[in-house]
Amino acid sequence: MLQNKHILIGITGGIAAYKICTLIRDFKKSGAEVKVIATPNALNFVTKLTLQNLSQNEVYIEEFDVKNWKPEHISLADWADMMLIAPASANTIGKIAQGLADNLLTSVACAFSKKIIIAPAMNCNMWNNETVQENLKTLQRRGAEILEPENGFLACGYMGKGRLCSLDKIYNAIEEALNYSQTLKGQKVVITAGGTIEEIDPVRYISNYSSGKMGLALAKSAYDMGAEVVFITTKDFDVPFKKVLVKSALDMQNAANEEFETANYIIMAAAVADYRVKEYSQQKMKKCEQDSITLEFVKNPDILAELCKRKMDCYEDKSACNCKPVIVGFCAESENLLENAKAKIAKKGCDFLIANDISRKDIGFGVNDNEVIVLSKNGDILKLDKAPKNIIARKILECISTI
Ligand code: CTP
Repeated sequence: MLQNKHILIGITGGIAAYKICTLIRDFKKSGAEVKVIATPNALNFVTKLTLQNLSQNEVYIEEFDVKNWKPEHISLADWADMMLIAPASANTIGKIAQGLADNLLTSVACAFSKKIIIAPAMNCNMWNNETVQENLKTLQRRGAEILEPENGFLACGYMGKGRLCSLDKIYNAIEEALNYSQTLKGQKVVITAGGTIEEIDPVRYISNYSSGKMGLALAKSAYDMGAEVVFITTKDFDVPFKKVLVKSALDMQNAANEEFETANYIIMAAAVADYRVKEYSQQKMKKCEQDSITLEFVKNPDILAELCKRKMDCYEDKSACNCKPVIVGFCAESENLLENAKAKIAKKGCDFLIANDISRKDIGFGVNDNEVIVLSKNGDILKLDKAPKNIIARKILECISTI
């Protein structure tokens, strides 16, 4: 089940470090590629040579032991399909929760956008410490999976909760996470992102504040879940999948139409301008004598509504609801969120609508977090609580891929 999967294991300084040797061997036996980062303290409990022999790879310890042009904390994060931190000490948990990056392990964790599984092990009083518990909750809220320690006899002589959970539990959690990450394998997912740019003349345009971050998070998550991703965007992000860079609503519509027939999912996360100037000026418009000027705007096509119509035209049975592509719209509202969203899903005819409240400054436009309501055309409503956009993205994809 783990054939050719890339598992990155971070080992911190705790007596349970020796148990990870068995785990590395089990992963290798299942066909996985394993790389190990050990904190300098971890090497007090288990040797570099042991980890190196078992993983059949170099063991990474020092942050600035640079061997190639790409810094280790980036190349290891890129290489891995997921990251396991086990045993995770209270110290490392605290640093990762606070975004500190003072050694290779914490730097990689900080740069890691895929799944992280954390298996803590520590003295029971440390485990019960309020700060440790808050740090774990913070990590969990951001998408990390915590495998709680077990009760029992601890190496420090205490009886209580703090022993590393069983190796079987860790192995199963990893297997599940890696398989789950392939739920969109064989599926083509087309995602639009960013605010469209409607040019007025060679130096001026109108646009909006959309950062494209939600669309990017969706595209990355879909890619991590095994999908073939086509990312139609007005923002030039560096991505490892097909990117179609566009400016205007008309460009975006052409690009989306081109992908339509082969797409399994089309997700319109872009903030498309409703209007464009009626006449683009080939030359730079000059300042004139009058104190005011008037620009005339014409309506842009509603890309989402037209894609939905095209889909319906493909099917004789108009009630067919599981047919491809599944079309998902976004709905940015500054008031009456649910009411407007319900009206919008009915009007546009999409399979799902993701609604968010742009009157709030802590979510949505331009920031890293979001909180959304997912509406389905069958009338189901699901609220996704405030979380980083990558977590919201995963949940949206899970939701739309289970119909
Ligand atoms: N959309 C689109 N083409 C447009 C306008 C919007 O495809 N010309 C898509 C957006 O990508 C989004 C959804 O429609 O997925 C809803 O966008 P939104 O701006 O909330 O709705 P509008 O239809 O523009 O309605 P209004 O601005 O009046 O709320």
